[in-house]
Amino acid sequence: MNSFIRLTIPARAEFIDVVRLTLFGIANKAGFSYEEIEDMKVAVTEACTNVVLHAYSNAQPGVVDIRFEIEEEGISIRIKDEGTSFKYEPASKSASLHDKELNEISAGGLGLFMMHALMDKVEVFSEKGTEVILTKLFGRKEEMA
Ligand SMILES: Nc1ncnc2c1ncn2[C@@H]1O[C@H](COP(=O)(O)OP(=O)(O)O)[C@@H](O)[C@H]1O
Ligand SMILES: [Mg+2]
Repeated sequence: MNSFIRLTIPARAEFIDVVRLTLFGIANKAGFSYEEIEDMKVAVTEACTNVVLHAYSNAQPGVVDIRFEIEEEGISIRIKDEGTSFKYEPASKSASLHDKELNEISAGGLGLFMMHALMDKVEVFSEKGTEVILTKLFGRKEEMA
């Protein structure tokens, strides 16, 4: 049976620490290595930072809902907000940075690239607010290790 752990934080930068600490506890318990947990922390931080920076504003503050789920094959972390949505372009986002010239990489857009690089699967749904689902599988060795 799958188990969920949910956490709701104000969409403010100073609360993202709490998400990282919770992630560490859950992923460590699930058996992930420190290196895998570090990668997940960076990806989750990017997703939460996007909510803080892009979903809400001072005029319209909100919360981030984080749901951790331990599945048979790994862990999935859903980061959800009800702020401003955006048009996600999966094809370009999943493309590797290696194929790009430096000047093609805009100042924005690195967060989603990093999530793709650090996780095994990244899903983004943005309609009424945004939902990012990050998945890390058990026992996957780093490609470059
Ligand atoms: N949760 C979100 N809510 C609204 N817009 C978002 C969200 N996440 C990402 N975006 C949009 O996608 C763009 C790309 O995100 P990202 O790759 O992290 O780059 P950056 O944050 O540096 O702009 C952002 O600039 C923003 O327009
Ligand atoms: Mg970002």
